[in-house]
Amino acid sequence: MQFTFPEGFLWGTASSAHQIEGNTHNDWTEWEQSHAEQFSNEARTKKPLHSSPLWMSIQQEASLPSNYISGNNSDHYHRFKEDFALARSLGHNTLRFSIEWSRIEPKEGAFDEKEIDHYREVIQELKSQNLEPFLTLWHWTLPLWLKEQGGIYSPNFKSYFIRYAETLAHAYGNEVTFWITMNEPDIFSFMSFLIGVWPPEKKGVFYYLRALHILINTHKATYTAIKKILPHAQIGLAKNNTYFEAYQNTLINRVLKRMADWWVNYYFLNRIRGYQDFIGLNYYFHNRIDYGFYKNENKHVSDMGLWEHVWELYPEGLYYALKELAPYRLPIYITEHGLADREDTSRAWYITESLKSVARALQEGVDVRGYLHWSLLDNFEWNKGFWPRFGLVEVDYQTKTRTIRKSALVFKEVCITNKIEL
Ligand code: BGC
Repeated sequence: MQFTFPEGFLWGTASSAHQIEGNTHNDWTEWEQSHAEQFSNEARTKKPLHSSPLWMSIQQEASLPSNYISGNNSDHYHRFKEDFALARSLGHNTLRFSIEWSRIEPKEGAFDEKEIDHYREVIQELKSQNLEPFLTLWHWTLPLWLKEQGGIYSPNFKSYFIRYAETLAHAYGNEVTFWITMNEPDIFSFMSFLIGVWPPEKKGVFYYLRALHILINTHKATYTAIKKILPHAQIGLAKNNTYFEAYQNTLINRVLKRMADWWVNYYFLNRIRGYQDFIGLNYYFHNRIDYGFYKNENKHVSDMGLWEHVWELYPEGLYYALKELAPYRLPIYITEHGLADREDTSRAWYITESLKSVARALQEGVDVRGYLHWSLLDNFEWNKGFWPRFGLVEVDYQTKTRTIRKSALVFKEVCITNKIEL
């Protein structure tokens, strides 16, 4: 049976500035310099979690200090036109990107007109190629002056963020409908503050809870500020939700699921009720509960799953993740979904099966409006560096050559026909 997606369904990809642009100068750039050596040493002695012939080449790359330094990256900052043309040639009609705050406001309160113009050009190019822009204001990196003041802990963080958002709302308001205030504030808080493995490595439950609190308030205030300037803007954030599966539906597993859902999936969203026009869902994780967490079968794992437990490929999970968001009664855009797959052996399968899950959710009345794959290009995967390959398009970081992977063509077929075989 063939399923046709709703008319106007958005198809495309998502990215973030620091992960593709090259030559950014922010808190991450400095942190990378000071950690590259340590990460490369750790990789040298690391054992894979799942046996795979890929491990040798991954380990080799991961053992190079240069793997951990974002550097000039894929130079998307200068090659965005070529990259958007690629997206267009792959049948996409939308593209999510982020603005690099440290470029726009390199010094406190001093906004750089040239950089504002740069992103205006980016937006205009997207529009001229019929790619609906999804603009993310903040995808985790901070200008250095703000880092010096304590980052999100600065007493002025909220007002700085609003000033930055208002500047961009004035600059791009006529051209951008979809605004994402922040990417995965919950993951950022978890990684930077609860387990403390990302900058600023402030580890502690108190720091974590406080970070969430700050980001909740900042999102709400930013929503209100942008709405004042742009009443018709569609504003939301990108939320990472996990599908917690209560295995065999036992009472204990159901109780554990309910607790995990409440904290991981719903807490942030509940706290910002009334302050988002759509839900942006980033779906990557499945967590099977069987008298304990992470009892996954791991029948399919991505390249990241060779390294860490949580990267099982579980396409059915997207159906459940969507169903579980339906009670919010808001349009849902899948603002990220993807996998690290350097040999491109699982990507086509994973996308196809996951889109069947989207179709199933739509058939049951869930208001899904778009699917944005992570990512168009291979990119810099934070503290893992360059070795994980998330792109529909492969990047040779030496020559900057882009090569379309086969799976991109499978996805293209769905994008241009707006249909899928169930
Ligand atoms: C983040 C991206 C990241 C992707 C793959 C998401 O949680 O928003 O920045 O690259 O996951 O790990």
